[in-house]
Amino acid sequence: MRFDIISVQPDLLLSPLGHSIVKRAQNKGLVEIHIHDLRQFAINKYGQVDDYAFGGGAGMVMMIEPIAKCINNLQAERTYDAVIYMTPDGETLRQPLVNRLSLLQNVIILCGHYKGVDERVRQKYITYEISIGDYVLSGGELGAAVLTDAIIRLIPGVLNDESSALTDSFQDGLLAPPVYTRPADYEGMKVPDILLSGDTPKVEQWRFEQAIARTRQRRPDLLE
Ligand code: ADE
Repeated sequence: MRFDIISVQPDLLLSPLGHSIVKRAQNKGLVEIHIHDLRQFAINKYGQVDDYAFGGGAGMVMMIEPIAKCINNLQAERTYDAVIYMTPDGETLRQPLVNRLSLLQNVIILCGHYKGVDERVRQKYITYEISIGDYVLSGGELGAAVLTDAIIRLIPGVLNDESSALTDSFQDGLLAPPVYTRPADYEGMKVPDILLSGDTPKVEQWRFEQAIARTRQRRPDLLE
């Protein structure tokens, strides 16, 4: 899968996408991430990519020309399955949407800044508008990093233990059950006996019941 991420703050993306599972996925050749500095497509030598809003009001608006140039260049090279705009007024990101996006091959992710992008960018280019939650970030970069990370861990071969992504919270509509590792007894806090029993069907049953109990307690909306 190939990600082309367009940003005015490309450095913000380097660390989240340069470590751990996401880095390993790139090293294995399963994923390519290309980060594009929007200022390279600025309308003048001062690096201008935004301007005052028509009609007045606080905050700058990202201009269409630099974004159009960048996206047109990319689309001249290959076909993209999605052009995603990270914005607080987009569809809230949940696991089913991540699952669907993980099946795509080439995606562009546009990170918004300031008051957002000129509406005509959205009309002309954007196929998905995604929010990572009901709060406002300083820009779309952290959202893009969250989205990219969530997608990449689903790509076959990325996780060592193939079943691991399937047992994540939300994949079966439930929160994940509690997990434990050694020691079996920490200052009197004991791991549930069943997990030490070696009885796999019983362990599975216990995990399922715990997942339901936890979901009922913390996220009853998921059970509805
Ligand atoms: N940009 C600013 N806030 C955002 C949010 N909540 N989700 C995605 N992109 C954003």
